[in-house]
Amino acid sequence: MIRDEGPGSPLPATLGGMQHPRSGPRRSIAVVGAGYVGLVSAVGFAALGHAVELVETDPDRLRALRSGQVPFTERGVEEALTAALASGDLTVLDRASRTESEIILICVGTPIDDLGYADMSAVEAVLAEIGPREPRPITVIRSTMPVGTSQRLFRDGGVADGSRFFIVPEFLRQGSALADFNSPNRVVIGRSRSVDPDAEAVVAELFAVFGAPMRLVTLEEAELIKNGANAFLALKISFANEMAGLAERSGADIGPVLDGIGLDPRIGATYLQPSFGFGGSCLPKELQTIALSGRERGLEMHVTSAAAEANLAHQRLFAERIDTLLGGVAGRSIALLGLAFKAGTDDIRSSPAVGLARWLRAHDADVHAFDPAAGGRASRAVPGLIVHDSAFAALAGVDAAVIATEWPEFKEMDWASARRLMASPHVIDGRRLLDPATMQALGYTYERVGSPSSEPARSTP
Ligand code: UDX
Repeated sequence: MIRDEGPGSPLPATLGGMQHPRSGPRRSIAVVGAGYVGLVSAVGFAALGHAVELVETDPDRLRALRSGQVPFTERGVEEALTAALASGDLTVLDRASRTESEIILICVGTPIDDLGYADMSAVEAVLAEIGPREPRPITVIRSTMPVGTSQRLFRDGGVADGSRFFIVPEFLRQGSALADFNSPNRVVIGRSRSVDPDAEAVVAELFAVFGAPMRLVTLEEAELIKNGANAFLALKISFANEMAGLAERSGADIGPVLDGIGLDPRIGATYLQPSFGFGGSCLPKELQTIALSGRERGLEMHVTSAAAEANLAHQRLFAERIDTLLGGVAGRSIALLGLAFKAGTDDIRSSPAVGLARWLRAHDADVHAFDPAAGGRASRAVPGLIVHDSAFAALAGVDAAVIATEWPEFKEMDWASARRLMASPHVIDGRRLLDPATMQALGYTYERVGSPSSEPARSTP
């Protein structure tokens, strides 16, 4: 257990495969909310030798966390939690009001409704619970908020002390969240115009350990950086998916096309991997948040609104392509490989795979699904979905298989044996995961997003 070193004593810590000497003194930090962001931040700061209190109000999650169990799939987090509980650097509390920590990181959810309005009630509840206590804590919001939210919290009295209130957005990706926590590509610190310089120095020091470029900005700027970064990633994927559709209908393959585009360093190759749509708790939501923020200020956000519509359209087009290829899905038996919104997580929020499962069920297909992590969540979310405990079990006797999530398991599996299990050897790949030549050599009819159908292209020169 690490105890009581003097201010500034360096302390090596292992986290996500990297080592950081902690800069600055050991701090007491309460992390409120044990979702992906909160739990990763909590084990991350504990591994750096800070004294962390993790606050979780849900009784089942609380029990699980106290016994070292992580209530979701995220690489490396269970090991880090076990180590932090054993070292005593992390304890789990049931209420934010119980903490006496000097820094409070708020990491609770801010979901949006169908109209795009963010539900800030969980953040407001935490602020109310902390209240105007002495000594005054430093409050840091890590939850995503639409621009203008912190000003509203100031105005409505939710923030007890604006001079010690900060926004430090997180940019963690699920599936690699711990590694991302450990090596952020930037640290953005939003603070009010009346900031207490001592508090600002503490927050800057806490995040300086990562050695990433740091930007001190206003609260509104921090809100917009978070919104805008996610929305821009969504734009890139929407564009890649739109180009994939054009390639399909032009007799071209999108792979070399995006390679040729992404080699331009002004564009870059990342976030250009085509799929039949993107999902998750952040990217789709952020497009809606920005569009609504603009409309509330009398500004039509044409580009972000179009990207959100395009994402829905790409998912619909893929479902229709499956329908066309099979001559109708009604009464067909289809294996759906993948349900999570991406590989490496059990999260199905805004998952295109789950959207497809619903569409297929609504069009009277029998859907046999398998996902290495998200099967349980998806079977509760999609009535009539038959979830199997292996890919082979899902493939037995089906008329076609659809790859919906890019799990490496689906790439590496024995497709020669799988062919013998399926009633018809059709594979439709929504993630461009498999090698077309190999699949064709094995006797499959193989179709994928971004490559022309084996049917004639709709328009030929
Ligand atoms: C995202 C941001 O990347 C992260 O910085 C922020 O903090 C939270 O939101 P996450 O939602 O975990 O992270 O997933 P991400 O890896 O960005 O993928 C989002 C979606 O886009 C997934 O459905 C993924 O499959 C899809 N995607 C991503 C593509 O279809 N193509 C790509 O090239 C990249």
